[in-house]
Amino acid sequence: MAQYSLNQYVDLLRAPEGDNGPLILDRDTLRTEDGTTSFPVVDGIPQMLGAEFDREVAALYEGNAAKGGFEHSTVGYKFPSHYTRMIKAFSVLCARFDENSIVADIGCGHGQMTSAMAKKLPVFGVDLSNNMLHEAKVNGLIPLRGDASALPFRDGVLDGVVSAEVVQHLPDLYEIFAEMARVTRPGATILLSTLNRKSIVRRTNRKLRGLDLIGPARLRAIEDFTAVLEGFPLRIEAVCWVMSPLPFNPVVENVNFPLSALAQNYVLSIRRA
Ligand SMILES: C[S@@+](CC[C@H](N)C(=O)[O-])C[C@H]1O[C@@H](n2cnc3c(N)ncnc32)[C@H](O)[C@@H]1O
Repeated sequence: MAQYSLNQYVDLLRAPEGDNGPLILDRDTLRTEDGTTSFPVVDGIPQMLGAEFDREVAALYEGNAAKGGFEHSTVGYKFPSHYTRMIKAFSVLCARFDENSIVADIGCGHGQMTSAMAKKLPVFGVDLSNNMLHEAKVNGLIPLRGDASALPFRDGVLDGVVSAEVVQHLPDLYEIFAEMARVTRPGATILLSTLNRKSIVRRTNRKLRGLDLIGPARLRAIEDFTAVLEGFPLRIEAVCWVMSPLPFNPVVENVNFPLSALAQNYVLSIRRA
């Protein structure tokens, strides 16, 4: 169970639509002092999806979580060893956050990628799915129901953002990076993993079977990110390739790795200038 609680960090939060003033936690409500903005807190999870957010999309992710979660999907984590390797890649990179950091895991799911880190420093878990967030809470994250493209944090309050296997569900990278750049302080680190568009296994898989994630999963190569990041004070500093299901070194850190087509996933380490 979480060693850090929402109570301690409530001053980092704001309404997803914009800053309407400080929020206070008042029993089962998170609200501005005058009460004009308020969010219910259900089973310890603040419901901070913007009023505009498409409830059908949220319900889809909720339904998927109830069926057993994305980590069991045939595309994302077909092999249990692959999931373990993803956890390993994140544990290597997360170990670089110092213990005074405050981090948010966006699209945290069960929170497996950051649960080890959440024992040492506060990690918010943001997800569309309450079912997922209940698990993330058990794994030590501070749960918040919210959307990656309208984050419920004030400007420049986070030392790091982690987002594992989420952006392939999202059409607009600009929206996501604008939010990540807004909520992080200069010098912060963003760790973001996704499906490798150039992976031989994924390209073959896509040709043979198609993809069965919610909507068409967007496979992206590093160049796709570099182009978008140019518009923000964000630069790729390191890349970890997650080699799976090959039985050799599971995680290779190298921006220009010549065998990257053998990696199904990669994790970008992005520095906020
Ligand atoms: C493939 S799962 C990854 C979960 C976790 N990060 C992991 O690697 O185990 C994708 C997660 O992203 C969440 N998600 C999808 N779109 C989102 C959005 N717009 N904002 C926040 N979370 C989102 C889903 O609910 C789901 O839990």
